[in-house]
Amino acid sequence: MHHFDYKDGILHCEDVSLEKIAEEVGTPFYCYSQATLSRHFRVFDDAFKDIDHLVCFAVKANSNLAIVNELVKAGSGCDTVSAGEIFRALKAGCDPKKIVYAGVGKTESEIEYALKSGVLMFNVESSQELFAIDSVAARLNTKARVALRINPDVDPQTHPYISTGLKENKFGFNINTAIDEYRLAAKMDNLEIVGVHQHIGSQITMISPFVDALSRLLEFVVKLKDDGINIKYINLGGGLGITYKDESPPLPAELAKEIVPLLKDSGCTIVFEPGRMIVGNAGVMVSRIIYTKKNEGKTFYIADAGMNDLVRPSLYNAHQAIQPVSQSAAQRKKVEADVVGPICESGDFLAKDRVLPEFKKGELFAVMSSGAYGFTMSSNYNSRRRVPEIFVKGDRYDIIRERESMEDLIRGEKIPV
Ligand code: LLP
Repeated sequence: MHHFDYKDGILHCEDVSLEKIAEEVGTPFYCYSQATLSRHFRVFDDAFKDIDHLVCFAVKANSNLAIVNELVKAGSGCDTVSAGEIFRALKAGCDPKKIVYAGVGKTESEIEYALKSGVLMFNVESSQELFAIDSVAARLNTKARVALRINPDVDPQTHPYISTGLKENKFGFNINTAIDEYRLAAKMDNLEIVGVHQHIGSQITMISPFVDALSRLLEFVVKLKDDGINIKYINLGGGLGITYKDESPPLPAELAKEIVPLLKDSGCTIVFEPGRMIVGNAGVMVSRIIYTKKNEGKTFYIADAGMNDLVRPSLYNAHQAIQPVSQSAAQRKKVEADVVGPICESGDFLAKDRVLPEFKKGELFAVMSSGAYGFTMSSNYNSRRRVPEIFVKGDRYDIIRERESMEDLIRGEKIPV
């Protein structure tokens, strides 16, 4: 469910015409809907109202201050994976006691920053990291709250690049030996064990991998208890998928129906780290077709946005719907075409072999479902300026990130004398 619909023949975000934004701000741009964002958060949060829980939005999905702030105002915490994301979460007004900090490669300076910021807990991924956190905490004369990330060896049946809970993945501690790591952590003076963490993958469209992973995790929690290790938090990560094309992922309430009964008597606060589910369908990227051409009968629409602006199609061969901003274009005869960008690589496409309306030069289109892992994965490749981000609420819009300037492109660079 989202708030991008045609009104008077033009695609709108809530009550604002995307054509109007394009005229005033230029293209390409990202555009987010406040109503969609807050609705998704509410739907997720409400689904778990019967258990003590904390939703920590995965900042990597969309780290714009206005987006994070909107979610923080709705009660969200933040799941972070770098000092930079902790910085953003704090700037967006997040209570440090609602920030969890994960990632396989935390540096000592990042650990120090997190400790000084007072984050709720570290999600730890290796024994060397346990030693590193313990020693930084000792130096700062404090205790670090930790949860160990358990790798349950469950197949989330998603794209291999975004499946993380299989034993061949780099993430977490193997569930069969993790008890030893907990014993190790329990002996460290400057660590306080507060939880367990797991995250099995992203864009998961079935309930069963979540249930399987949770059942394994709960068996492990019992083992910990038997060992005298009592925890307060069970963090189940993120991963709930969205509809890009014809997937029908479970609704949060459907997931809750299966897993809440398993969690009810755990005595723990349950932490969730959804990213895509909250923000994915709350955003689109709008671009203009600058040229159309035919090569050997194949149609190419050359857009002013490319893989540097939205890399998911190139990187994962991800399908994201292309929707004309003008409804009259949507009703035109269809052709099979590629929508490509201006980058000097054949892998630079937004859509490949797609049945699309016959677009004309100069027309606008929206790449749907771009709110998650869209702008955050964009880059300056080909010295292209990163595009603006727009936030719509009802009939008003705000520029929540300016288009970069030429000067931005060379900021910090120096020619040695
Ligand atoms: N927690 C942890 C530890 C994670 O690694 C992730 C995502 C999340 C939570 C949020 O997962 P979500 O609810 O958004 O599925 N760039 C890829 C997705 C990478 C996901 C990485 N980890 C894409 O564009 O599809």
